[in-house]
Amino acid sequence: MTFHKNTSTVKNSGLSVKMTLIMNACAFLCKVLTLPLHVAELIGLLSFYKRVIPVMIYKITLAYNYIMNEKKGELFRNLSKFYPTKGSLRILEVGCGSGANFEHYPTGCRITCIDPNPHFKNYLEKSMAKNDHLVYDSFIVASGENLQAVEENSLDVVVCTLVLCSVQDTPKVLQEVKRVLRPGGAFFFLEHVVSDPSTWTYFFQHVLQPFWYYIYDGCQTTRATWKHIEAAGFSDLELRHIQAPLFFMIKPHICGYAIK
Ligand SMILES: C[S@@+](CC[C@H](N)C(=O)[O-])C[C@H]1O[C@@H](n2cnc3c(N)ncnc32)[C@H](O)[C@@H]1O
Repeated sequence: MTFHKNTSTVKNSGLSVKMTLIMNACAFLCKVLTLPLHVAELIGLLSFYKRVIPVMIYKITLAYNYIMNEKKGELFRNLSKFYPTKGSLRILEVGCGSGANFEHYPTGCRITCIDPNPHFKNYLEKSMAKNDHLVYDSFIVASGENLQAVEENSLDVVVCTLVLCSVQDTPKVLQEVKRVLRPGGAFFFLEHVVSDPSTWTYFFQHVLQPFWYYIYDGCQTTRATWKHIEAAGFSDLELRHIQAPLFFMIKPHICGYAIK
């Protein structure tokens, strides 16, 4: 995989004024239709969903990994550049879910996993058992915005795949990632992002977002995540925009790594 420096390659031609008005009207209608779900979430009626979602994510991950296996392989081959001078590679996986990336990590790596949803534990343990070439340090229940449990400058690599679409505060997560990475360590990412504004994908990403959010546990399809990564103050950035062979709403992806 060839990476290009700071490539904000998404064209910005945009929708016409008329199409923007239609898009906003449709999105508003979808928001109104999802209002009961919003109220149910506010009063805690959707908390059972946190138990159900790991089953769904586990199944989706198997399909996603099958389709994206080559892309993940190309990306994670770059991990070898970040070994410390002594000892094994220390990786923190933020928003680990069911442990979708373990098979791509080199033998002997030490892995710490973090996810705010404790119900992923069983699935995570399944993946750990399958990938016994790694050493697992701990599973911490926490969000990426608060990595207090992790010492600063203590890791060679932090990984986020399909996580920055769901976090509450992307700049805060990236600030935390930078804090825990050692100087010269790297943040690896593979994330779906908002499409080029001139496309129908962009239109439907905005219109269907309110439903998507509730189906996929707070996932947002309209984020220009690369802008946050570019603005986070890493010393070097290798970032690519790719079109993943997936459902059109999540086709546009970014992948790469940023060096502290
Ligand atoms: C779509 S899943 C991706 C899981 C896994 N990284 C993968 O590639 O399959 C999104 C994950 O992000 C986690 N997540 C949601 N909000 C988060 C936050 N604020 N900080 C860290 N992880 C978060 C979810 O619990 C879930 O495990």
